[in-house]
Amino acid sequence: MKKRIIKFQLLIAILAVISSAPSFAGDAAAGKEKAALCLTCHGEGNTVVGVGTPIISGQYRDYLIHAMKSYRSGARKNVIMAGFSANLTDKDIEDIAAFYSEMNSQLFTPTE
Ligand code: HEC
Repeated sequence: MKKRIIKFQLLIAILAVISSAPSFAGDAAAGKEKAALCLTCHGEGNTVVGVGTPIISGQYRDYLIHAMKSYRSGARKNVIMAGFSANLTDKDIEDIAAFYSEMNSQLFTPTE
């Protein structure tokens, strides 16, 4: 019985350490500010998006990070996105990815 309690306390201690560790998931609030320009094309939820401009709200975080890094490195070629990703740091990309991935893609309903 005593052993069980000690194990439980150990588990709590480990969880406390894990939850207090710095997050590498990106900061969505900072991402929102950095995404001001992105929002003019990609919209928020599913607004503003025009033909040929993908909805990225609600997209998986890892996908967004991969896509932006691919544009930045030139591995994924697109004239528009090459320009908008060129000056982003890894931290910018993580923050913007956090912002978009945490957004509900159905936040707004289509207007047409
Ligand atoms: C002038 C309009 C415009 C702006 C501003 C813009 N984008 Fe894009 N974005 C596009 C278009 C068009 C595509 C589709 C490109 C392609 O076919 O690869 C795209 C593609 C993407 C994709 C890939 C989506 C997918 O489904 O694969 C991501 C991620 C993305 N943009 C993020 C961003 C971020 C982050 C910013 C701001 C730093 C930004 N975009 C600014 C027009 C824009």
